Amino acid sequence: MNIVDSAKQAAQAAVQTVMKKAVELAPGGWIPGGRPDPLINHRHGHVGKPVSRIDGPLKVQGKATFAAEFTFEGMVYAAVAFSTVPKGRIATLDTAVAEAAPGVVLVMTYRNAPRIQPMPLFLTGEKAAGGDSLPIMQDDRIHWNGQPIAVILAETQEQADYANSLIHVTYDAEPAIISFAEAKAQGTEPGLFMGHPLKVEIGDAEAALARAEVKVDATYCTPRHNHNAIEPHAATLAWDGDRLVVHDASQAVGHTAWSLAKVFGIDERQVHVTSPYVGGGFGSKTLWQHQVLAAAASKLAGRPVRIALSREGVYRMVGGRTITEQRVAIGAKADGRFDAIVHTGTVAMTRHNALPEPFILPARSAYAADNFKLDVEVAYLDMLANTFMRAPGEAVGTFSLECAVDEMAVALGMDPVELRILNEPDKDPTEGTPFSARHIVEAWRAGAERFGWANRKATPGTAREGEWLVGMGCATATYPYYRMPGGAARIALTQDGRARVEIAAHEMGMGTATAQTQVTAERLGLELDQVTFAYGDSWQPGVVLAGGSQQTAAIGAAVIAAQHALVTELLKLAGNDSPLAGLKADEVGGFAGGLAKLDDLSRHESYASILARAQRHEVVVEANAPPPLETLHWSMHSYGAMFCEVRVNTVTGETRVSRFLGSFDCGRILNAKTAASQLRGGIIMGLGLALMEETRFDERKGRVMNPSLAEYHVPVHLDVPAIEVIWTDIADPHTPMGARGIGEIGITGTGAAVANAIYNATGKRIRDLPITLDKLM
Ligand code: MOS
Repeated sequence: MNIVDSAKQAAQAAVQTVMKKAVELAPGGWIPGGRPDPLINHRHGHVGKPVSRIDGPLKVQGKATFAAEFTFEGMVYAAVAFSTVPKGRIATLDTAVAEAAPGVVLVMTYRNAPRIQPMPLFLTGEKAAGGDSLPIMQDDRIHWNGQPIAVILAETQEQADYANSLIHVTYDAEPAIISFAEAKAQGTEPGLFMGHPLKVEIGDAEAALARAEVKVDATYCTPRHNHNAIEPHAATLAWDGDRLVVHDASQAVGHTAWSLAKVFGIDERQVHVTSPYVGGGFGSKTLWQHQVLAAAASKLAGRPVRIALSREGVYRMVGGRTITEQRVAIGAKADGRFDAIVHTGTVAMTRHNALPEPFILPARSAYAADNFKLDVEVAYLDMLANTFMRAPGEAVGTFSLECAVDEMAVALGMDPVELRILNEPDKDPTEGTPFSARHIVEAWRAGAERFGWANRKATPGTAREGEWLVGMGCATATYPYYRMPGGAARIALTQDGRARVEIAAHEMGMGTATAQTQVTAERLGLELDQVTFAYGDSWQPGVVLAGGSQQTAAIGAAVIAAQHALVTELLKLAGNDSPLAGLKADEVGGFAGGLAKLDDLSRHESYASILARAQRHEVVVEANAPPPLETLHWSMHSYGAMFCEVRVNTVTGETRVSRFLGSFDCGRILNAKTAASQLRGGIIMGLGLALMEETRFDERKGRVMNPSLAEYHVPVHLDVPAIEVIWTDIADPHTPMGARGIGEIGITGTGAAVANAIYNATGKRIRDLPITLDKLM
């Protein structure tokens, strides 16, 4: 970073600090969420019901159109050639044979690619979506092993793939930093996460640690992880003059449209991104070079293009979770109360991305202590950019923190559940703000009871079934409540009493469309089949990210604002002849197909009646959500208590997870069926993190060696036991609908719960993920 940028960032940070203090001190009633959402008190409507997914029938019938299933007249297919060296220059690049191959329409390289700008880096600006900030096929420079060096367009995918094999390239390779050890040896730099240093110092944690009566101090390592959404990345796109239509697989349609516009130097309204169905995102379905390259090649060839990355293509081009090395030290008094929490370490990153894996985030608020030292340092490698992957920071941060708490329980001779409850903070221990709603102790008690924690043998290695050692472990799960700026919604209400809600949001398979249909129907007082929730289109209102577990809150706040505008408009139309005459918007809610006075439901008029009298076929309103100041005023998080039972084979070292239970406190649950799937899915991904997932690099060339699901292991059905999920269902008074995020919390704590169970089974403490059988032999 240069001096001007540093100064700008410092000035911004100063303004933010003053703002933050003002928001902290303001009366709660002034803050968005200061007055509870009236929907929290509706207890017998659609919200909370286990409604089956409304997109389910379309998907099983093959009628849901995914990004790689759209077609355009005259469309061609893309293949991508990847560099095989990590750094250097392209020396020779012979495309003549490929160009002459059957069906080939275009071979694009740095020599003929249109001049375009780099992608704005994801989360460095309000609508920035890019995975890296490198020049895209603009010169002969190579920045990572796997970088695209040519795009081949052909009449069929097979012709494109064949022609790809005919491209001949040589490189002038340069020395590259491809090992984490080498990168660390070059020196580290402080990590900056969304403009803020990843550093917290309160009191003197090292001194408190030194004088602690009981202490633990250990280093934990987590490897690189690749994204493996079931639907590999794809886009089908076409230019019409200066206008670009992209059917994408996206968790950020608004961001992607704006960012593509920046890349091609056009107006954001000239780019139209749709993404009606997405086969999983997990942080990876943002803007990567493949959409840009396909659009550039399409422009050059004058033909619409479909680009569908192979699984290997995703491994070469789309970033994953980076390597971390974390020290956790805890100092406690003899009674078990924590006095010092140290969580520091180093992550690997590239110079051309913006995500130092923020593993310290959980330690900021998980436990009470007087002294904290939290710090993320960055070591730079020449590799594919890393990126957001389900609970970036928390997934691996809770692994180390929660293993350390388990080690502390062993050192103290205390039950690990009781140790956690003993160290429960009464306000945010590093921010000093009050919690919006924290019922993690209830979650611990309910989970322990349900799981049968009392049957656990405290001494490792003492529960045995034949050649299997049996153990139980637990861990805290935690993930912040976020609500990002940019939420907006349009509601169109028609005289037949039907409502259509439009918002540029996303359904990636987690049940958003279903849950939001329930929420909107309940808010407007309609039946589910009277509401259409329309999403997945950058021309719809709002810039909403399906990420950070915040989409539900972002949509919720936007729909609250739009409903307020709708009620205001309808009260005007209702006039003096209505039972609603004289009422203010705040006094009125949706009820039984119309509006009613909230505390006197007999003052009711149906939407049909209001619109008929006003001779209106339709009322359309649009509104923006208020800025998300609530997250500065309160400490807001989702919580969970995770319980795991494992069996470890004494002969082979193999670990089998035999039972898992997640007991969650995530506010009000909006759909019991889709929520259970989200939470279970997170836990399953956590089992992979604990036991299997690891991207391996060739130490000579920095090339990913296991770019397929045959060699990069994720849990299959037989690896996953019955997973039970329960929840407190206690509404958070300061969030839309009383709900907090559930998308990422399931993967947090899971790795530690498994590792702690393995310790309880075997007495072996493995601090290095994944816990494969060789580490237990
Ligand atoms: Mo997520 S990593 O915020 O999609």
